[in-house]
Amino acid sequence: MARDINPFRYGREADVLVDRTEELRQVIRAGEDCGTLFLIGPRRFGKTSILKAAETELTGRGIVVLRYDAEAYESVGLLAGALLAGAVRKYSSAFDRAHAVARRFFSALRPSLSLDPADGKITVSMGVEPGARRAEVPLLTDVLNGIERLAADDGRKAFVVLDEFQQVVAQAGERAERQIRAAVQQHSNVGYVFAGSGTRMMTEMIASSARAFWHLGDPLYLGPIPREAFVPFLRNGLESTGASVDDLALSRILELSEDVPYNVQQLASQCWTRLHESARRHLTVRAVEEALAGVVSMQHVAYLARWLSLSLAQKRTLKIVIAEPGHAKLAEVARRHDMPRTTMQRALQVLETLHFLRRDFSRTGATWRLEDPFMRAWLIELQAQ
Ligand SMILES: Nc1ncnc2c1ncn2[C@@H]1O[C@H](COP(=O)(O)OP(=O)(O)OP(=O)(O)O)[C@@H](O)[C@H]1O
Ligand SMILES: [Mg+2]
Repeated sequence: MARDINPFRYGREADVLVDRTEELRQVIRAGEDCGTLFLIGPRRFGKTSILKAAETELTGRGIVVLRYDAEAYESVGLLAGALLAGAVRKYSSAFDRAHAVARRFFSALRPSLSLDPADGKITVSMGVEPGARRAEVPLLTDVLNGIERLAADDGRKAFVVLDEFQQVVAQAGERAERQIRAAVQQHSNVGYVFAGSGTRMMTEMIASSARAFWHLGDPLYLGPIPREAFVPFLRNGLESTGASVDDLALSRILELSEDVPYNVQQLASQCWTRLHESARRHLTVRAVEEALAGVVSMQHVAYLARWLSLSLAQKRTLKIVIAEPGHAKLAEVARRHDMPRTTMQRALQVLETLHFLRRDFSRTGATWRLEDPFMRAWLIELQAQ
């Protein structure tokens, strides 16, 4: 029987995880053992999805999970405030108890509580202005120290999950690392995950002996989802339309998406819609390519705006990376394209900061890759016009 609901999802955390069993196990173990883990991976590879699955599992086991995305807050002080509020709420169901908890474990932060009579929700705010009298990072470490005391007293362990952690260091500087490390090191009732997508920044943070996070915890590097795992998932979902699916069509989806899970789901979703809405009973390589053209044309305006924001040297460099995928010898490429090496190097750095490109360290030697692999098809189409 054909199903009516598109099984492919992108743009939010995945509800159904393909593969990632080992990664999930490691995150869960860090929660249970109050360990420290650094989860590092390129954007849209599925970090947040793993963290969300771990949260569900650990919450079921009685651990208090406090998961926050650092990018959602304009300052470290506001992140600290959110963490404080979350801890007070999750450790105390009743208002009276929440009040006592806030006063006892976070007194230095002068928290005040209010109860919304409409939904009974407890709101907690700090009496200390974030970013005002006290520096922001000490505010964060004060909150973490409070959570440690609270967890020890309560008996339920806490698991603090800070997603997009590179944002904290970008905002507060390397000093933040030292201060956070000093606090985290002394905690035995709180586990930590620091997750980040700024791969280079996160790697430098924990790999360099000069930096504070060195040896604080174990790194967990997220690679692509193995094709053996993705193929059956794709087949299942696409065949739910009632159509038959070529093996080569599935490989083509993974190739065009360069195995980036977000792009795989996006392209598969488009294929599913097309099968569902048309009378086609068969998914071929050709149909996959048409589906990609559909996705790319929907995103044309966004791609064009990003492209037009680049300088000439950056545009040229991006085109070179697209034309010569996987090339490691930068100097030689620059010479061949008649471009000064330093110009290309600077352009590459900007393209990385702007999230056009990422460094791929998984092969022999580092190579540059598109963060959004569909941009390749878009640019080729643009050039053809
Ligand atoms: N294990 C998985 N199985 C299937 N799809 C996945 C998996 N992990 C990620 N995805 C797909 O990739 C998308 C992005 O995942 P997620 O938001 O977890 O990545 P991320 O690494 O946190 O990205 P960002 O760096 O942008 O925060 C999901 O919406 C989903 O479509
Ligand atoms: Mg994420």
